Amino acid sequence: MALTAARARVLRALSRWPPPGRVPVAGWSCRSDAGGSAGGSAELPPGGYGVWQEQAARDPVGFWAEVARGTLCWDSPFHTACQAGLPVGTARWFLGGRLNVSVNCLDQHVNKSPNRVALIWERDEPGTEVYVTYRELLDLTCRLANTLKKYGIEKGDKVAIYMTVSPLSVAAMLACARIGAVHTVIFAGFSAESLAGRIMDSGCKAVITYNQGVRGGRIIEMKKTVDEAVKSCPSIRHVFVAQRTDNKVQMGDCDISLEEEMAKADSVCTPESMDSEDTLFLLYTSGSTGKPKGIVHTQAGYLLYAALTHKYVFDYQQGDVFGCVADIGWITGHSYVVYGPLCNGATSVLFESTPVYPDPGRYWEVVQRLKVNQFYGAPTAIRLLLNHGEEWVKRYDRSSLKTLGSVGEPINNEAWQWFYHVVGEGRCTLLDTWWQTETGGICIAPRPSEENAEIVPAMAMRPFFGIIPVLMDENGKVVEGNDVSGALCIAHPWPGMARTIYGDHQRFVDAYFKAYPGYYFTGDGAYRTKKGYYQITGRMDDVINISGHRLGTAEIEDAMADHAEVPETAVIGYPHKIKGEGAFAFIVLKEPTAHTDRIKEELKAIVASKIAKYAVPDHILVVKRLPKTRSGKIMRRLLRKVITEELSSMGDTTTLDDPSVVKEILDAYQKYKEKSSS
Ligand code: PRX
Repeated sequence: MALTAARARVLRALSRWPPPGRVPVAGWSCRSDAGGSAGGSAELPPGGYGVWQEQAARDPVGFWAEVARGTLCWDSPFHTACQAGLPVGTARWFLGGRLNVSVNCLDQHVNKSPNRVALIWERDEPGTEVYVTYRELLDLTCRLANTLKKYGIEKGDKVAIYMTVSPLSVAAMLACARIGAVHTVIFAGFSAESLAGRIMDSGCKAVITYNQGVRGGRIIEMKKTVDEAVKSCPSIRHVFVAQRTDNKVQMGDCDISLEEEMAKADSVCTPESMDSEDTLFLLYTSGSTGKPKGIVHTQAGYLLYAALTHKYVFDYQQGDVFGCVADIGWITGHSYVVYGPLCNGATSVLFESTPVYPDPGRYWEVVQRLKVNQFYGAPTAIRLLLNHGEEWVKRYDRSSLKTLGSVGEPINNEAWQWFYHVVGEGRCTLLDTWWQTETGGICIAPRPSEENAEIVPAMAMRPFFGIIPVLMDENGKVVEGNDVSGALCIAHPWPGMARTIYGDHQRFVDAYFKAYPGYYFTGDGAYRTKKGYYQITGRMDDVINISGHRLGTAEIEDAMADHAEVPETAVIGYPHKIKGEGAFAFIVLKEPTAHTDRIKEELKAIVASKIAKYAVPDHILVVKRLPKTRSGKIMRRLLRKVITEELSSMGDTTTLDDPSVVKEILDAYQKYKEKSSS
């Protein structure tokens, strides 16, 4: 078929993708469009914070019903706002309603202000940013959606997206939403084996990837990893390959050039009308057992919650440039790079690089150049930058910043103070936001609140509208009053909550609803201060958080179990100055050997190849035995005490099979420490 002028233009634009930011390129807009006029965005009923808070607490279902009607574009209205049974892990929202998420994120804004900038792609190389308007993003999305359809992807099919962050990867997510396919985005840092595991668990029919990725000046061989992964994935029929770099990669029988197909595809794609409770995406996350779980989020409730929290936690105003530097491979990227901002008609920054490329001033140079108004990032990056000194920050104009946010892990006081005073010059609101892959969006954060209400450093503080936090004691009883601690639960369903674990509802019930019947258990502990604010105290299970990346220690142990000379391992998290937590592995060798260094290197390589580089333990200590109870359970609590050197509070060791093991491990640890420091 002959190319029309428009198709030829798209093909040209895509094949020279991306065009340099400062040179106007046909089909791409310029920065002056970033403001645009007001469009659809999350709206609360008339009132103010106090009215909404009171209404949401008194009648959460009525509150959400009203907000859902006013915020989302529906094909048909819902008849029942909520049907839930928390003891059996069910919550369904906006029953009978039909809508399309991509229409809410694109078409509604294109109808009102097509030239408003939807995305600013801050590419790895500074100064080469690309602006994409809502009209252009809709065009990309429709072409990609039609390409998927052409190759047999239908409503309900699963599609893996293994891409670095870019307008095309956002279009891939929205294209799935447009045709009713279910995407599962897999973080580009995951290994072939992790990718294969997720593809197999979800039964994906296709993968969308890049030939290569670019990050921090380095090339990531994405297509090679996909090739390796799909060898063991019979469900995969097609691999769509987009070009991020000019380098050619080997194309096999099931590989399709994405840009070529998109250039031929129609730029109009009729959106599929979806039930509120149809699955929108799966996102794999770690639990306390070895196998990552595919968290299921559905259409209307998730979108509404992401949009409302985006607008009201960050006080997003139309025309602001919203800079969430998370990768789309994590829930933060889903909710606060893609779905929340786009549903609100916002301008969202896609950050492809790292905080230290080409130097530790990168974030703040981006803030200056793109005039970022809200900056949302992880404490681990703040801790890293803090060590490089404040001159890297002060070099750049940050006067555009209004709000700063922190997510994914506890922010220590020192990092909070530096973020607030140095980056925010003491005049920006700094929000420590607590939430999880399972919650869909922010649940506890200092804002929204009454005007000028106090913000306590390094504390998430206040529940969002309709979130009812509860603390539980060891006996499963609700802890009343203030100045108390307990297991953090949520008492009432909310629209953004996960619906199930893909293919294993029983695991969902067991993990979140069994410990405290009638409540959602978060896995975190919390302290309620004297004033009734919430402070997260950390995970209560064997999940650790390395640089804001959630990981089950059992996953690392399972990976290391592949080593023939290492029959037993125990991994624990330990405090790490930059990463927040690091992994510390205790291993037992099959037989004594002089080659422990070789074995340790092999174990590290196994973990990198089976999971990802960030999961590799920082320390591996060989011990003769692990501390076990008489019933054979490893007492990780004791291992934690050894490496945090809290020997005076070892607690009860009488259940140990042989209490002398503690001294044995302590001696081994002391020797290891001496050797490491010499
Ligand atoms: O332990 C909590 C920690 O991160 C966990 C959720 O991880 P994930 O599902 O990967 O989502 C991360 C992005 C939302 C939580 O169970 N966590 C998240 N935010 C905070 C936090 N810990 C302390 N303070 C926070 N603000």
